Order: sequence, then structure tokens, then C-alpha cells
Amino acid sequence: MKPTSAPRNTPRTYRVKSFGCQMNVYDGERMAELLAEQGIAPAPEGEEADLVVLNTCHIREKAAEKVYSDIGRLVKAGKAAGREPMIAVAGCVAQAEGEEIMARAPAVSMVVGPQAYHRLPEMLGRAVAGERATDTEMPPIAKFDALPARRKIGPTAFLTVQEGCDKFCTYCVVPYTRGAEISRPFKDLVAEAQKLVEAGAKEITLLGQNVNAWSGEDDKGGAQGLAGLIRALAAIDGLARIRYTTSHPADMDDAMIAAHGEVDKLMPYLHLPVQSGNDRVLKAMNRSHTAESYLRLLERFREARPDIALSGDFIVGFPGETEAEFEDTLQIVDDVRYAQAFSFKYSPRPGTPAASMDGQIAREVMDERLQRLQAALNRDQLAFNEASVGKTCEVLVERRGKHEGQWLGKSPWLQSVFIESQAGIGDIVPVTLAEAGPNSLKGIALAQG
Ligand code: 5AD
Ligand code: SF4
Repeated sequence: MKPTSAPRNTPRTYRVKSFGCQMNVYDGERMAELLAEQGIAPAPEGEEADLVVLNTCHIREKAAEKVYSDIGRLVKAGKAAGREPMIAVAGCVAQAEGEEIMARAPAVSMVVGPQAYHRLPEMLGRAVAGERATDTEMPPIAKFDALPARRKIGPTAFLTVQEGCDKFCTYCVVPYTRGAEISRPFKDLVAEAQKLVEAGAKEITLLGQNVNAWSGEDDKGGAQGLAGLIRALAAIDGLARIRYTTSHPADMDDAMIAAHGEVDKLMPYLHLPVQSGNDRVLKAMNRSHTAESYLRLLERFREARPDIALSGDFIVGFPGETEAEFEDTLQIVDDVRYAQAFSFKYSPRPGTPAASMDGQIAREVMDERLQRLQAALNRDQLAFNEASVGKTCEVLVERRGKHEGQWLGKSPWLQSVFIESQAGIGDIVPVTLAEAGPNSLKGIALAQG
């Protein structure tokens, strides 16, 4: 028998709350577009929505607990306001723990996995009829085919080109929640990018859990990798910038390195996670590279594009990591001098091999290692920003700053830059970078003529 609750009114307003990675942001936008197509409007700022979609992340600690506390908060606020919202749980926690959520949280009407959210309108119909609906099937391409055309968009947009992961790093839940690697077809991507540009996008960030594993066939039937796709997108008039994330070292090829040297619209920024600087730990993580092979790869990118900004992900406190092994991670940071990076304490994910490995590291040890690592990364980020002072570059304006006449945008190296000028959102303003802080720079707009 299907789980049921009382029939409900069709929601008139929605809010999508996305947590975690950029792909969740993309998925959240697409769910919003689907709901808008059903005639449901975004809830005005500060108002309760009739339908709340919690678009969850499962990558680290306490994700599920956070979902339950968010649900509790929504129910409480709804009771106080005299109208409880309809709640949908989407994203990777929905995929991993859907049945449990249905059992534990009666206030949830819909559980929808990341590969099934195109079916949200149909599930909504069932929820209105009083049925509680779960869909965690994994037909990834069907999802994209079923989504509506892209709507009006800001100057920067995400475009999912690849989804899923076959790498099975031993700490990571993604291969289980997002499924196997799939690439969206070349022509669909060119068409969606075109639509995004028509809708106002100046910059497109290509997304994939292993974005550089993307492969496809161009319109002449030729085999293409991500570099070929980027070259095709670079031909779109009105598109000024292309970025991509996240790459895996094992899937990097000569064509991507060459593209960084040759394609002007491809921004000089590379996010290439290394996770650890120690080969024993890398092996235990099932990463298919060594510290040395990773460094060699970065060297080749620097040869092709000397000003490239490098970024990475790190995990401290992987099971069995010794002090000396952790110091190898500090060493690789010293060697690379990242412009930006993301670092995390290892978090055991249920069902992953590392969660049952011997040698789980004490929380205090992880805290201390993370602090030391972040001190080194912050030092390098500030140094990178300081070394940019005096350079001229273009800033793509994304939003207003706090003060009148102040605008915030991004440099080609993904730094946040404040400028004071007659700019507007979406403008590309030539600036001289004048002052640097750890998280942003000040730019002086150059007279355009
Ligand atoms: N614990 C801590 N960090 C993790 N990441 C992935 N899984 C875990 C985990 N179990 C980090 C990796 C990855 C980034 C997206 O999240 O650094 O690159
Ligand atoms: Fe997770 Fe590794 Fe796949 Fe990245 S490459 S999504 S860390 S399994």
C-alpha cells in the first residue's frame, strides 16, 4: 500500500534550498524552473513558502541530521503561521536515505533523488492527492531530456555536462548517490549553452563530478573530450568566459592542457583536487595518482598557461594518516602554492570502504591538522592575491556591493574584485587590481575608449 496523508491544496509558492556543491545549485535552479512551469511562483523574500524543497548534500558529516532539524524547523514555523508547508527532500541525502526519511519524518511528502527530479511535477500531483511519493531511480539522461528550456539567468550560469563517478575513492559517497559516470550529448550541451547565453549568461561553468571525463561525439560524428566541447562552446557569440569543475587528475589529457594555452575564453583557473600529499594515503584512498604525478601534471598546465590559478581539495585525518604523512600534505601545498583551496576533516560515510578501516583519527588530531593546513593555504591565497596587485584584467560584474556605486565581480582567476564605477550587472569592466586582502581585491576601473 502507498503511504498516504491528507489531501492538500496545490502549492502556490515554492522555495528551493540547496546545500553542498555547485551541481546542487544547478539542480536547484532546474527544479525551480520545473515548479515555475507548473504555475508555482517563487516565495517572496522573508515569506513562508507553500512548498519547500530541501536539496541536500551527503558528502560530509551530519548531513542527514541537518535535514531532520531543517524539517523540524519548517514544521514548527508552519504551525506557528497556521499553514504547514509541503516538504520535498531532494539531493544526495534523499538518494542515500530516502526510505528512512519517509519513515522518520511524516511531514515529508516527497523524496526525490538527484537523477529523478524531472518527475517532480507528477510527484507533486500525487502529494496533493494525499500520497507520499518517493523516486530515487537513476535514469540520468532522461532527466535532462525532460527538463524545460532555460529561463532568464544572471551573468554567470552553471551547465551540468557530466554526472556521476566511477572512481570510487574509498572515502567518498558520490559514486553511490550520483551513480555511474555519464556524459550528456554534445549537441544538447551546445544547445543549452546557447539558450543560457540568450538568457543573459556571459560566463558558463561546466559541471561534473568528474567533468574532465566528459566524452561525446560532435555533429560530424568525431570523438570529442572536454577540450573539444570547450572549443565548440567558445564559438558561441556573446559568451565571454568558460570555466569547468571538478576535474580528476587521472582524466586530464594533453588536449585540456593545450586548450588552456589556446582558448582565450577558457579562464586561467584549474580546480584539481589532490586530497593528500602522501603516496601511501593516496593509495589507501584509491586515488590513481601519486604526489609526484600530480605535481608533474600541474607543471604542464603552468607551462601552457603561466598565470593559471591553481585550486585543490584536501582531506586531513584519513584513517591511518600519521603526522609524517600529514606533513607530506603540507609539503605539496608548499610546492604548488595554491591560489585557492578547500580543505576538510575526514568524515566517515556509511557504506564506504574507508568508514570501516582501522586507524580512525581522533577529532582533536584532525582539528589541529586542519588548522595547520588552512594556515598554509590562507597564506598562499593572500600571497596570490598580493602578487596580482598592479595587473590589469577584466572583471565580470555579478552584483552590487554594500556601498552606493560599488560593484562586485570576478577576475579571470576567480578572485572577488570590488570596483567603483558606472558599471551594471553583467558588464565586463577592465580594471587595474590595486589592493589585495585574503578574500578579495579592490580594482580601479580603467577609462574605456
Ligand atoms: N570526508 C571529508 N571530505 C570528503 N570529501 C569527499 N568525501 C569526503 C569525506 N568522506 C571532499 C573531497 C572532495 C570534496 C568535494 O569533498 O576533498 O574533493
Ligand atoms: Fe568522490 Fe573520488 Fe569520485 Fe571525486 S573522484 S566524486 S572524491 S569518488
